[in-house]
Amino acid sequence: MSDQSVEIQLLKEEIVRLKDQLSKNDRERIEYLQNVAHQLVAPLNAIKWHIENLTQARIGVDRGKKVLRSVYSQATQAVHLAKNFALMSNLEGDHALTAMREPLQPVNLCQLMVNLADDFQPQGWDKEIHVSVDNDPLQSAPDVLIMKPLVTQVFSNIIENAIKYSVKNSRVDIQGSYDKGTDEVVVSIHNRGIPLREEDTLRIFERGYRTQEARDQYPAGTGFGLYIAKKIIELHRGSLTARSHSAGSVFTVRLPVRALAGKARHLGPKDRFARACSHY
Ligand SMILES: Nc1ncnc2c1ncn2[C@@H]1O[C@H](COP(=O)(O)OP(=O)(O)OP(=O)(O)O)[C@@H](O)[C@H]1O
Ligand SMILES: [Mg+2]
Repeated sequence: MSDQSVEIQLLKEEIVRLKDQLSKNDRERIEYLQNVAHQLVAPLNAIKWHIENLTQARIGVDRGKKVLRSVYSQATQAVHLAKNFALMSNLEGDHALTAMREPLQPVNLCQLMVNLADDFQPQGWDKEIHVSVDNDPLQSAPDVLIMKPLVTQVFSNIIENAIKYSVKNSRVDIQGSYDKGTDEVVVSIHNRGIPLREEDTLRIFERGYRTQEARDQYPAGTGFGLYIAKKIIELHRGSLTARSHSAGSVFTVRLPVRALAGKARHLGPKDRFARACSHY
């Protein structure tokens, strides 16, 4: 065979490989969208069903309150999923810190955790789970320079899991402190519930991975939450780890206090106005 026909042969093989890759990407995109639609339909259907229930003439006040609590909890779930899906496409697109549109701002993690714990209490009502924050010594930790909405989503994903995978009538404990040696604020979230095996402590951060117990006992779930969380924490040069502990699991987030100074856009006056109007 001449040099030219060898080259043509190689090019043909490359075209076939690229075509296969493109159809694989297409298949994955369709699967992803089907997954998104499927996960969002579940809480929306539940809300619809609860509202139908409420419109029945003979519903009592206590029952009505219970139904409204479920509506609240399902709506929170739908919002949580929608936020994760939006983040997912951003994170898949570009992993560079400067590409994220969010500015950096100093954040008091103790305050953030107290606000999040308050927000998540209703999700624990049905299973009688209480989320508690131990203010000490997190309260005296310095502020961390972070993209607040993204890190808020990280802690939301971890707390949401902690409630979802807990046994009935238990507590989710949030603790934190400042590590002077590494100049990091450390926050850990402990819950008692389904086991987390040693071999799963790394795999749960893979996109789409769910443990056997989670799949068997809690069929609803995409396996995206921790994947997104780890990516965001790594963008901040921190770490997110999981381990089994005292009849449950502990998730530990370490965030550097100043490592990102000057590395991305900082909060400007316009952003400050937007932040002042936002919930957190
Ligand atoms: N607190 C926890 N205790 C035990 N296992 C956990 C805990 N948090 C997460 N896991 C395991 O890690 C897996 C991945 O969690 P992740 O949040 O990424 O996905 P998910 O909760 O299954 O679905 P979703 O994308 O809706 O959050 C879970 O399916 C579960 O197996
Ligand atoms: Mg989850």
